[in-house]
Amino acid sequence: MNALEKAFDPERFRAEGHRVVDLLADMLRSEAAGEAAVLPWASPEDELAHWEGRMAGPPQPPSDFIAEVIARSIKLHHPRYMGHQVCAPAPDSVLAGLASELLNNGMAVYEMGPASNALEQWIIRQTCGRIGFSNGDGFLTSGGTLGTLTALLAARSKMAAHGQETAVIASEEAHYCTARAVEIMGGDRHGLVTVPVDDRFKMRTDLLRDALEEAARRGRRPVVLVASACSTSTGSYDDIGACADFCERHGLWLHVDGAHGAAVAFHPGLRDRIAGIERAHSVVLDFHKLLMTPALATAVMFREPGDSWAAFHQQARYLFKEGDSDSWKDSGRRTLECTKLGMSLKIAALWRASGEEVFREHLAAVHALAKDFAAILRSRPPFEVVVEPESNIVCFRLNPPSCDDRTADALNARARREVVESGGFYIVQTVLRGRTWLRAALMNPFTTPRDLSAMLDALEVAASVHETEPSR
Ligand SMILES: Cc1ncc(COP(=O)(O)O)c(C=O)c1O
Repeated sequence: MNALEKAFDPERFRAEGHRVVDLLADMLRSEAAGEAAVLPWASPEDELAHWEGRMAGPPQPPSDFIAEVIARSIKLHHPRYMGHQVCAPAPDSVLAGLASELLNNGMAVYEMGPASNALEQWIIRQTCGRIGFSNGDGFLTSGGTLGTLTALLAARSKMAAHGQETAVIASEEAHYCTARAVEIMGGDRHGLVTVPVDDRFKMRTDLLRDALEEAARRGRRPVVLVASACSTSTGSYDDIGACADFCERHGLWLHVDGAHGAAVAFHPGLRDRIAGIERAHSVVLDFHKLLMTPALATAVMFREPGDSWAAFHQQARYLFKEGDSDSWKDSGRRTLECTKLGMSLKIAALWRASGEEVFREHLAAVHALAKDFAAILRSRPPFEVVVEPESNIVCFRLNPPSCDDRTADALNARARREVVESGGFYIVQTVLRGRTWLRAALMNPFTTPRDLSAMLDALEVAASVHETEPSR
């Protein structure tokens, strides 16, 4: 068999595939038991050197290669993974992902992905229903960043005269994807007007008028207000109802960046956090954050179905049919992507296997865990929690009375680094009001309060070693 025949041999695929699934199932079992290191730490230089060596070696079957990759990867299914907002994907969804990759249905036009295009439309209709867009429409795209850019492009195209200098308003805690979208759209750094947050890190909607005046001072016409649902650092939800009132009074487009938190639309008991979202013009929601789908899988939804066509206007005679401009069937008309991942299969497989119940149970588990964690922190000085969590994100730190601000910042950063490099836990850090805070996004529904207490123990041990060292 030559290399090309070997690459496409179905029996080799079957045998290797079974081995790979066994490896992954073993990985899941060992992670659930907390056996493996969360992050097998190596410096970036050492990791690159390792792979340079391996890639120069003799050919290796995929199962051996993947075994090595698993051993050297961060483990999102480990209950002690508590870092960035990337989910531990549900295995049912992953299996559909494998099929989707082999099918490689391109999605841009219906003919290139009949099942995946139809399922995409089904997912969008269902999700619009949960958001409260009774007549809404939209599509899936690769990530909240791209989704926000697409929604803002649609907003500009609907709201602004061509060539007009526009401004977008968002809170100072909004995810950087809004600032990036504004720059891509040619708005430079003056195109974004930021609004301060209150003591719960929510947008000060009482200061929105000042933002309008600031935009006018910059010679720009404000067209969009972005509400965060929720913010990235602290998981705080802006008051969407107040944002919608303001937008209606001043003729602005309301975009809700619900990449992380709009998922609560699937849980009646948590939905109050996004009250008013049905009044937004556009909403972005990531299935790869709180809804257990492998990255990337983002829904971009519009209250008015016609607005979902507003971002892009390019014609392509080799791809799209003339006179079929408002049909969901050719999803490439509405997304920045031409060839697009068949991400709908990953969402639909999980939905089909377990129903919406699985989303509800997951949301309930990780939100309850955040409340438990805040309670643990409050009972364990010198730990403190920055704000009562509304989401599954908790910011906290060690604040020993003996330390000044600078020393405490350095202490927390060093303790985190030590704990992460030990492989025992993965947490991240952020800066809030000029101070360093540790940050846990509780993405794994099987993390327990005991895991959280053990993480605090580890931080305390690491900090006690450094507490007496001078800060650098
Ligand atoms: C509020 C918010 N918006 C947007 C994004 C970006 O989403 P993505 O990573 O899917 O591009 C994030 C990512 O953490 C986020 O938290």
